[in-house]
Amino acid sequence: MNVLGIETSCDETGVALISDRDGLLAHRLYSQTDLHAVYGGVVPELASRDHVRRLLPLVRAVLDEAGMRGGELDAIAYTGGPGLLGALLTGAAVARSLAWGWGVPALPVHHLEGHLLAPMLEGEFEFPFLVLLVSGGHTQLIHARALGDYELLGESIDDAAGEAFDKTAKLLGLGYPGGPALARLAADGQADVLRLPRPMLDRPGLDMSFSGLKTAVLTAVRKGGHAPADVARAFEEAVSETLVEKTRRALKQSRAPALVVAGGVAANATLRAGLERMARESGVPVHFPRAEFCTDNGAMIALAGLRRLQTGRAAEAVDDAGTPVIHARARWPLAELTG
Ligand code: KG4
Ligand code: ZN
Repeated sequence: MNVLGIETSCDETGVALISDRDGLLAHRLYSQTDLHAVYGGVVPELASRDHVRRLLPLVRAVLDEAGMRGGELDAIAYTGGPGLLGALLTGAAVARSLAWGWGVPALPVHHLEGHLLAPMLEGEFEFPFLVLLVSGGHTQLIHARALGDYELLGESIDDAAGEAFDKTAKLLGLGYPGGPALARLAADGQADVLRLPRPMLDRPGLDMSFSGLKTAVLTAVRKGGHAPADVARAFEEAVSETLVEKTRRALKQSRAPALVVAGGVAANATLRAGLERMARESGVPVHFPRAEFCTDNGAMIALAGLRRLQTGRAAEAVDDAGTPVIHARARWPLAELTG
């Protein structure tokens, strides 16, 4: 079985080809970072236009590298949401059109299911597991019982962890995207010279809040006396410790036998180290994607499409008359998925 994956939910154009026998055959990513950097954040209309420009050449490059023709595919999987609607529509329209031309099905994939399956690109492991999903748009603790059976245990009630990294980086005068830049600065900072609050750690439950942290950072910066690197370090530690502690509680509550960490912020070294230590103490294995598959990519979408095909749970989007249509939803709760 061969599945082409197409990801266009935000500012990366990702295309990949996966086979059930040989794993990932080829993958390409075009990041629009430079395009949006001058605006300090993603401009949706520019993102959509750039996906249109990049997609077909990336599809051609991936097929060429794998030595495969479109007609040899078993399906095209594309990100159906959640994400920027215009950006999603470009990937969905290209996927549906190619699928028509090649006579194969086009399968909408949930972006977050892609993220949480991404560690399986490194090696097989079984459901159930607890997922800490930390991306630019979501911060969620999810009990994944089986493919498509996801229970939301807790989430950020305001900013996502990645969003907090990006906004705080902006406050510190770092470029976009802020996460990696802030992490680099924090590496030069001293620990324990500034202590920022650990939001909602003193409260029971698994919800989190990160919007207050940027205000605390702003206050610290305005007051002066702290090196930017020390502020970055204190911020990174506050976010990491909060995520680690909430995840520890979620493991205990769900009794999940393994932990999966996914999404862009899973690339953060401080957070990874904290989660690895906590997982060891909790006696559960932890699975991370490789760094390049933490952030958005086509490989995770191809994998999610393949998994659904293999288990007979792949569904084309169709209208009332049964005619294939494109599926693009800016908002699409993960819990709405069915096994
Ligand atoms: O999963 P992703 O690529 O996109 C969404 O689906 O949102 O995540 C992007 C987010 C951005 O907020 C970015 O700043 C953050 O992940 N990020 C990081 C690191 N690398 C990416 N945050 C902290 N440390 C990093 N090393
Ligand atoms: Zn993502």
